[in-house]
Amino acid sequence: MATKEKTVFFCKSCGNESPKWFGKCPACGEWNTCVEEKEVRGKKTEDRRQPTDAVPMPIQAIKNAEEQRIVLPYEELNRVLGGGLVLGSLVLVGGEPGIGKSTLLLQTALQLTDKRVLYISGEESANQIKMRADRVGIHNDQCLVLTETDTQAILKHVKEVQPDLVVVDSIQTLSSPYVDATAGTVTQIRETAAEMNRIAKGFQVPVFLIGHITKDGSIAGPKILEHIVDTVLQFEGDRHYGFRILRTIKNRFGSASELGIFEMNANGLREVTNPSEFLLSQRDEEVSGIAIAATIEGQRPMLIETQALVSTAAYGTPQRSGTGFDIRRMNMLLAVLEKRAGFRLNMKDVFLNIAGGIRSDDPAIDLSVVAAVLSSNADIPIDSRYAFAAEVGLSGEIRAVTRIDSRIAEADKLGFEKIFISKYNAKGLDTRRFHIEVVPVATIIDLVTQLFG
Ligand code: TYD
Ligand code: MG
Repeated sequence: MATKEKTVFFCKSCGNESPKWFGKCPACGEWNTCVEEKEVRGKKTEDRRQPTDAVPMPIQAIKNAEEQRIVLPYEELNRVLGGGLVLGSLVLVGGEPGIGKSTLLLQTALQLTDKRVLYISGEESANQIKMRADRVGIHNDQCLVLTETDTQAILKHVKEVQPDLVVVDSIQTLSSPYVDATAGTVTQIRETAAEMNRIAKGFQVPVFLIGHITKDGSIAGPKILEHIVDTVLQFEGDRHYGFRILRTIKNRFGSASELGIFEMNANGLREVTNPSEFLLSQRDEEVSGIAIAATIEGQRPMLIETQALVSTAAYGTPQRSGTGFDIRRMNMLLAVLEKRAGFRLNMKDVFLNIAGGIRSDDPAIDLSVVAAVLSSNADIPIDSRYAFAAEVGLSGEIRAVTRIDSRIAEADKLGFEKIFISKYNAKGLDTRRFHIEVVPVATIIDLVTQLFG
């Protein structure tokens, strides 16, 4: 049968298909994401769709089967997967180029000495992979390396090898002989991901798919992938710092708000199991503009350092910049300080930084940001044994945050002496089990009095 060829337009961001070119995607609203691709609909594709022998059955008759999981060598990785890797699951690991995706999965593959792992790479040569394995210094005879990009060839090898785990680096290099498009196009990504999913489900083997993400944060080609795969993990961090955060974005087999932390060293990635101790900078003398926030990232309490620098604006328009913190939120907090507490910050440059290249959007960090700004403005240091955990409202009121117990407990565990929280959180809180002194604050003015007298 002759194949029919037609041109279609896809949105690179969400995969929306359109017969006409568009400037703004009608589905996701993104601009300039339109790509033109040839779509081939022919016999081959139809042939592969085979009916299964599934029959309808009453829901009550379905047995609750516990998913079987492989426990991976890294606790941080198990955590984000919801307690290990489910057999037959397809896991997308997204991240910007150079963040350490290949390193993470190669290390994991090499550590699994009692499992047969098939590491498929279309990005690097076998030699490069060997060099990386030598660099991380783990030896494993069970790990097989395959440099292949054709999905049907991969299927053949999986059939032969019968691996316990498959790693594919990366989805953007794969191509399926069933569709006539170059690797990395929306058509190919969609097709190859679906084929990898069939491999995962058919052989009940877990498959890790590496995917590069574009600058705007969407996995290239990508939102299309999010609904095909079972789990989406995002590897992120500032390349100039060693810390890497692995976040769960979606998980069919566990919570979608987990987080794992790694550190990139000269010989590979290392897990960070006690993040607070790493994120707090060691300082001998007290400096102004630093406050410690007791945040919850994912499910984990973590102490992070917020640093502010407030100085008289050198030019007419004051500069405001923030690293790791939403700049609009910072402007809002500065406006609150101005309006509700009378601090004249409108002619000041304000720079804000979260130490360690970490990004946080926990509202509980507000109080610490405000404290750091006030401290820098007055040039009075805050005691390094004080921590903060509360949201700041528009009227200058200090608002309650979730899981206050865990936050206090974490600060307590690390030997902090005082933690400032909202008075609404303090109500009914049993503070006797903590050594740390819990200081309830009601408003920003209240905070200023408590901190600077
Ligand atoms: P890589 O895993 O290749 O990133 P990705 O697959 O996400 O593109 O990691 C690349 C970076 O990590 C590279 O800049 C070098 C650095 N790196 C180390 O610092 N230490 C190491 O042991 C390794 C293997 C890489
Ligand atoms: Mg790579």
